[in-house]
Amino acid sequence: MILRVVSLNKKYQHIDGEVDALKDVNFDVNQGDFVTITGSSGSGKTTLLLTLAGLIKSTSGIILFKDFRIDKATDGQLSAFRKNNVGFVMQSFALIPYLTAIENVMLPLAIFNRPKAQKYNAALELLQLVGLDNRKNHLPKELSAGQQQRVAIARALVNNPSLILADEPTGNLDPSLSADILNLLKKINREKKVTMLMVTHSPAAAEFGNTRIHLQNGRIDNIFSKEIKMNLEAVIN
Ligand SMILES: Nc1ncnc2c1ncn2[C@@H]1O[C@H](COP(=O)(O)OP(=O)(O)O)[C@@H](O)[C@H]1O
Ligand SMILES: [Mg+2]
Repeated sequence: MILRVVSLNKKYQHIDGEVDALKDVNFDVNQGDFVTITGSSGSGKTTLLLTLAGLIKSTSGIILFKDFRIDKATDGQLSAFRKNNVGFVMQSFALIPYLTAIENVMLPLAIFNRPKAQKYNAALELLQLVGLDNRKNHLPKELSAGQQQRVAIARALVNNPSLILADEPTGNLDPSLSADILNLLKKINREKKVTMLMVTHSPAAAEFGNTRIHLQNGRIDNIFSKEIKMNLEAVIN
């Protein structure tokens, strides 16, 4: 088990009144799971991802990453946790416009004290993984939307995270590009054993999950989970 969520609640205080964004949310995630989270707009999907990342404070409940209590951690502990364990992929790609593809991928490594060549090579290897090493010196505006999202995915992987949190990563892409990105995330999930938590609007994208969570008004109203079949041959070889 990599992530455990127990009785998680989140209330936002707002001048127009309190918002119950998450209500008694419970689920477990195993290492290597691909978890998809669906629900209509306002159902609490983004709040759930941000709370799991420790970017917003929960109101009550427990969030465990391995044996680390995210819900009780200090800001310093949370930034160390994110730096070492988490990669983010957003709907809007969030690339820095004046940096090239490879510079964008290297960006999260700025806080690590490592030789520049090592950072460059790590970023280049990931651009190869997402099929964009021949675009490494392009600026975001010189890339298509699908390519920009591939760069963002490479960037999310560069700190070697065990967990990727993706908020509607295909929300700004047309259907065929969406399928490419989903297949890429699945490949990363399988080959690099990265645990994926992906929020999506699309029922077809939700099918990529071996665990599928549906939120309604901040509550889980449906959870589907199937064990990942271990490929024994792959384990033996
Ligand atoms: N910072 C905030 N302050 C107050 N209410 C918020 C805030 N962020 C989100 N909400 C409310 O919390 C609910 C869940 O929002 P969100 O998690 O963004 O939903 P989703 O990602 O599923 O569309 C919504 O009703 C939204 O209006
Ligand atoms: Mg959202």
